[in-house]
Amino acid sequence: MEYAWIVSRDNEVEAVLTCGALRVRPADRLPKAMQGTLLGAVFERLVRMNDGERHAVLRRRIEELLAQWDLDRVECIARAGALRLQPADVAAYAVGTLIGLSDPEAAIPWIRDFAGAIAGGADDEAIARGIAVTKSLLDALPHGMDADDAANMLGLLFQSYAATARLIDNVLTGRSDPPVTVTRRYAAEDVELCKTKIRKGDALAVLLISPRFHFGAGRHACPGREIAETIATAAAAVIAQNLGQIAAQSAPCLPEKSSKLDRVDCERPSSSV
Ligand code: HEM
Repeated sequence: MEYAWIVSRDNEVEAVLTCGALRVRPADRLPKAMQGTLLGAVFERLVRMNDGERHAVLRRRIEELLAQWDLDRVECIARAGALRLQPADVAAYAVGTLIGLSDPEAAIPWIRDFAGAIAGGADDEAIARGIAVTKSLLDALPHGMDADDAANMLGLLFQSYAATARLIDNVLTGRSDPPVTVTRRYAAEDVELCKTKIRKGDALAVLLISPRFHFGAGRHACPGREIAETIATAAAAVIAQNLGQIAAQSAPCLPEKSSKLDRVDCERPSSSV
């Protein structure tokens, strides 16, 4: 019999995310609505969706690629995006630019649908929207990439889209809400973890609520943390500056208003008090 577990305490989260007997996906199971589609082919190549040697190979390529991204350039692109886009779209624009999409701004609605389709728990409608945009996104990548690289470039859009938007919100509001609240693991064999027997096939929902795990842990830990933090800080600075300017533009009427009120008060006859 298969069970579902909820993993929330720090020591349990650490144990689960670093356990070799757990996988990021149920054995060889592609979401049904993706089977036989281009989105499905991309999904199966994602570093995030693979384990073992295949994961290690894809992971090395992604780490090499991300190491080449100059953080000053990342910041500059994020600032440019934040000047004219919704905060929720800045990361998509920034990462879209960095991976070389032909028109990153025009691609934002496709990125939104693609990310929604890959996200854990996506329903058939969300997957259908993702299927509809996958070819357009692949065609917008620089030509000549091999299939693994192309899929994982789109994977970077998915990984950064919603989480970085939440991080921008955190920077703006001074909160530290978890940008990603949950990830999943599946037991590939029977295993005992934190004195609990987990059976082959069991599913585990791992809560990433503790700040220690906002960017994951273990083999699949986020390789884009520095990039995400650079985008979020740059975008939040521009947004805060814009808000400051709006406040400054409306400021001239404030002293006038208050001096008028003072005057009215002062002119009141003392008998009215
Ligand atoms: C606030 C923003 C972000 C947060 C909170 C975040 C968080 C995470 C977490 C928790 C994981 C691990 C998932 C798991 O173990 O199941 C992960 C994986 C990953 N993240 Fe991020 N991420 C963010 C932004 C980014 C950005 C900007 C990039 C790259 C441009 C990126 C690239 C990746 C990749 C490629 C993986 C998969 C790694 C693997 O499976 O080996 N992330 N991220």
